[in-house]
Amino acid sequence: MLRIVVINTKGGCGKTTISTNLASFYASRGINTALFDYDPQGSSMRWLKLRDESQSPIYGVVAHRNAARAVTMSWQLRLPPETERLIIDTPPGLKGSDLVEQLKGADRILIPVLPSPIDIFATADFIRDLMLEAKVRLNSTRLGIVANRVRKNTLAFQSLERFLHSLSIPVVGKLRDTQNYVRASEEGMGIHELKRQPVYVDRMHWSAIYDWLEDRN
Ligand SMILES: Nc1ncnc2c1ncn2[C@@H]1O[C@H](COP(=O)(O)OP(=O)(O)O)[C@@H](O)[C@H]1O
Ligand SMILES: [Mg+2]
Repeated sequence: MLRIVVINTKGGCGKTTISTNLASFYASRGINTALFDYDPQGSSMRWLKLRDESQSPIYGVVAHRNAARAVTMSWQLRLPPETERLIIDTPPGLKGSDLVEQLKGADRILIPVLPSPIDIFATADFIRDLMLEAKVRLNSTRLGIVANRVRKNTLAFQSLERFLHSLSIPVVGKLRDTQNYVRASEEGMGIHELKRQPVYVDRMHWSAIYDWLEDRN
């Protein structure tokens, strides 16, 4: 089983969007997929409830209700044994032991970042916490950045690229800013499942992320 944690202390950077799109992608390919929602706001689970019967099933767990320190000891117990991919959506503001706990056993860590100065600074602090507290090594193949809501040729985008380059953390994908994500989420779908909208470009963007997750680079 591959355990993928989508995390950044900054709110609104795309954790839930990326978690739900990942889950729906794997599920729609017939892979047994589970989605854990550690955010008390419950956006991932709200999305999951919107999925209709005809769509590929995803096993959802409201993980935050038991958000005591000891929760992770039992996460395996709550998973169907045939689970092949586990996607973990996390709340904003994780620090200290909560952060360490959340990253335990992660095979891949995806960090969404928006190309705004505020988000770039917040993410720099977060990555420092990851290194100091969770002892995640930079350059480790486990850690990848997803630049989200990217508009090319803006100043913020250029400074995001410089920032990421300086950290030597791979940018494993860039997702554009498009209402396709909003439409898909309103219907409990991922953009791979949207039939009507022109999502070809967005699917292309995702393929780099899947290749990295699945070690196909
Ligand atoms: N690439 C994107 N293009 C357009 N809207 C996006 C994109 N990524 C996220 N959003 C929107 O931004 C908002 C915040 O995203 P969300 O995934 O909920 O962030 P987080 O879980 O980190 O708080 C949501 O309304 C979502 O639909
Ligand atoms: Mg969220």
